[in-house]
Amino acid sequence: MINVAIVGVSGFTGLELVQILLHHSKFRINYVSNSTGGQSLAQIHPELHGVLDIAVSKTSIDDIADKSQLVFLAVPHQTAMSIVPKLLQKGLKVVDLSADYRLDVATYEAAYCAHTDKENLQNATYGLPEFYSKDIANTSLVANPGCYPTATLLGLMPFVSYIKPDTPIFIDAKSGVSGAGKKLNQTTAFMNMQENSFAYSPLTHRHGYEIEYILKNFTKKSYDINFVPHLLPISRGMLCSIYLQLDNKIDATKILTDYYNSQKFVRIRTNPPTIKDTAGTNFCDIFVALKGQNLFINTSIDNLSRGASSQAVVNANIMCGLDEGLGV
Ligand SMILES: NC(=O)c1ccc[n+]([C@@H]2O[C@H](COP(=O)([O-])OP(=O)(O)OC[C@H]3O[C@@H](n4cnc5c(N)ncnc54)[C@H](OP(=O)(O)O)[C@@H]3O)[C@@H](O)[C@H]2O)c1
Repeated sequence: MINVAIVGVSGFTGLELVQILLHHSKFRINYVSNSTGGQSLAQIHPELHGVLDIAVSKTSIDDIADKSQLVFLAVPHQTAMSIVPKLLQKGLKVVDLSADYRLDVATYEAAYCAHTDKENLQNATYGLPEFYSKDIANTSLVANPGCYPTATLLGLMPFVSYIKPDTPIFIDAKSGVSGAGKKLNQTTAFMNMQENSFAYSPLTHRHGYEIEYILKNFTKKSYDINFVPHLLPISRGMLCSIYLQLDNKIDATKILTDYYNSQKFVRIRTNPPTIKDTAGTNFCDIFVALKGQNLFINTSIDNLSRGASSQAVVNANIMCGLDEGLGV
């Protein structure tokens, strides 16, 4: 068995990690922490009462290193970069669910804040397994992708070489409220969210930077990304509608089917997927439709699983030389 630690277990993705890892045949949860410690896991997450009796510690690098070989960081950005260098120095494998290691320094600092661990940022591997599995297998630090970038990139990648040059790509994306984390605020309060929906950070959201950066890194070309996220009055789930213009006529369904032929966590659909179709799973469902040379790509994922925790477990499996789908 490989002993694992979850740092940030008190949050939404932390709980999701526990629920996945409880069924994993090779990973054993041996250490969990949040910023304060002093409670049991069941006190924080009552659904785990009688399921996993373990104390939640205040994060200690020495204790993590004593007890585990692999660490999931389910903490906010900035917090992750203050922990990662110490974990790597102790020889641990790390999957970071935050944004801290997904971009280069210039892009990160434009979208987030000053970066304090530039060295490890250079060496981190972006954890989108369909594209980077060989690199993931050989790294100690995986930057787990953002939820919107996961749903967008999986839909877009098969078609990037067919896009008409100098035309914009529009991404209209919708997420359940858990995407914002557990911290209370007026926007996500029940009385604001119920029977309501709205765009936020249109064309300026941080995940737009990530989509543009990863696309450019992967294809060595620049794209005009126009990304608008929306909140839906549901707890979890994500739907992306992507609109672009093609250079030529193509058989989009065939291209998509061939592209993901050997990938078990991408499903090609003949009808637009719903949010419920992928709820609680690691699947990304993709549907495409064409009108002449205008292409519509529609993807569905669960933001807490494929958009965060189950994708993190897939990455950890690959890092440890296990079957990528183990426990997921
Ligand atoms: N939610 C999603 O759908 C989603 C999807 C993709 C990626 N992500 C990313 O994943 C990370 C976690 O997201 P989330 O939604 O789970 O956030 P969350 O619900 O706000 O939970 C974050 C947790 O981090 C803990 N934390 C803060 N500082 C810590 C420290 N020094 N040591 C240990 N724990 C610490 C907090 O614990 P206490 O406050 O209890 O101390 C909190 O429970 C974020 O970086 C987020 O951007 C989230």
